[in-house]
Amino acid sequence: MKAIEIRNKYLRFFEKHGHTIIPSAPVIPENDPSVLFTTAGMHPLVPYLLGQKHPAGTRLTDYQKCIRTNDIDEVGDNRHLTYFEMLGNWSLGDYFKEESIAMSYEFLTKELGIPNEKISVTCFAGDEDCQKDTVSFTCWRNVGIPEDRIYFYGKEDNWWIAGEEGPCGPDTEIFYDTGKPKCSETCQPSCNCGKYVEIWNNVFMEFYKDKEGKYTKLKQRNVDTGLGLERMAMLLQGKETPFEIEIFAPIMEKLEVLQKYDFIESRRIIAEHLRSSIMIIQDGGRPSNVDRGYILRRLLRRAIRHMNKLGISLDTLADIIDISMNALIEMYPELNANRGIIKQVIIQEKDKFIRTLQNGEREFEKEVKKLRASGKNMIEGKTVFNLYETYGFPKEMTEELAKEQGMEVDTKQFEQLFKEHQDKSRQGSEVKFKGGLASTGEMETKYHTATHLLNAALKQVLGEHVHQKGSNITAERLRFDFSHGAKMTEEEKQKVEALVNAYIAMDIPVEKFEMPKEEALTLGAEAMFIEKYGDIVTIYKIGDVSLEFCGGPHVAKTGELGHFKIKKEEASSAGVRRIKAILE
Ligand code: SER
Repeated sequence: MKAIEIRNKYLRFFEKHGHTIIPSAPVIPENDPSVLFTTAGMHPLVPYLLGQKHPAGTRLTDYQKCIRTNDIDEVGDNRHLTYFEMLGNWSLGDYFKEESIAMSYEFLTKELGIPNEKISVTCFAGDEDCQKDTVSFTCWRNVGIPEDRIYFYGKEDNWWIAGEEGPCGPDTEIFYDTGKPKCSETCQPSCNCGKYVEIWNNVFMEFYKDKEGKYTKLKQRNVDTGLGLERMAMLLQGKETPFEIEIFAPIMEKLEVLQKYDFIESRRIIAEHLRSSIMIIQDGGRPSNVDRGYILRRLLRRAIRHMNKLGISLDTLADIIDISMNALIEMYPELNANRGIIKQVIIQEKDKFIRTLQNGEREFEKEVKKLRASGKNMIEGKTVFNLYETYGFPKEMTEELAKEQGMEVDTKQFEQLFKEHQDKSRQGSEVKFKGGLASTGEMETKYHTATHLLNAALKQVLGEHVHQKGSNITAERLRFDFSHGAKMTEEEKQKVEALVNAYIAMDIPVEKFEMPKEEALTLGAEAMFIEKYGDIVTIYKIGDVSLEFCGGPHVAKTGELGHFKIKKEEASSAGVRRIKAILE
């Protein structure tokens, strides 16, 4: 069964059971700066789970376009996807466990034809916050799942919440038994060996978890279910990976024809990242150096790098995009209207990336010369890593270039650095998503940029002796410590405020550059702790106003900041003053 057929069957089935079909929200959330992308079907429905009345009623069904970015580096294996479609049915204070489980079972067995023996389920084991879910257990038994295929697990497995705070509750998860042998005596659905594949998650959302971690009952008992479409299509088609279903098969085949070198991971990465990019661009995303734009840039560059790795000419990119889009059109006919623009955005990014790659090649040659001059023939892992991080050079490419020059590469050191980087970026994305639906990102980003403008304005008004001594940012305000010996006068404060607001009014682009530290210092970039930075640094330039070492993130243009206001100016320590300021 093709993915689109599963989707249609699903929506019709739930419509028949009194649900109204609602359209998918965009992958870029509307009016919600708190998360980068829509990560689950429940995301656009949060206000309704909390009790707001939904215009389409209390029973809804939809397919939701989702992007999850925590595991980008894992894409290429046999299962990870960044873009996927989640089918969902929703009870907003309407039916609860019994009806939800009965409908899921009926859909799986009657509509999709999955035999009872293939189904195992898990329920919540209970703890101090919520009792054991014996109701779901009984419901499963009543529909015909034998007790030895019903498992109980704790919060790690059978509790669902987006991030740290928000509506949540125990869930019951449905697993498909692929028929592979058990990996051990104790093999069961929670095991990752591949025998059991999770296909559907029914969340019984009746709690709210607050910032302090306290659970309270919601006004109403909701059901939120999510069924991963690509995975279901893969199972029903008897395939081992999602890359073999009709959504990916044409592009995978084309890449195989075009490739000079055979790397299946690279083909998967190209197929997956192009599809994700197409969907993000379709919903208004554009490559940039911050937040969503940065993720899109990363996806596209990773895809392009892997075209290089396969030895496929980048001139074929337009054709490859077409193949990818053609495989998506039936599911997303709206793509047709934007075919031109989607292609244009991707091709432009490719052209930009080619230029970076050329700079990287120059950097590589410089390094080789240096090594030769000192009689060495081993390129350090650090260099390979810098080429990777700064210029997007795949390790394999550096190795190939090195070989041509009769040089070797310290891959061990590279792998070590790469792993550290991966761990760090994973932590980074977790931090970003930690607050989940409740966290903010946009205000902090604005305050970051405002801090640079404030630093520059203080220098203008008070003198060049002003340097940053500390900074602390929340979604509500910025706090900035700087070297200055005296209390600021009213007039000085007003001047600084007016200057920052003038920079904002000028709507100056905020540009990000990466360069060797020495070069940044020569340019006069402002840095608080110079020793803290590595050899290659990131600096942010705001027109002629500011040039600072900084990890970001920042807004694209100062005009986004709103109105800047100093709330307080006080002593921080000897010779250091502290300003608290807000954007309104
Ligand atoms: N919110 C749950 C999930 O994302 C069910 O839709 O798995």
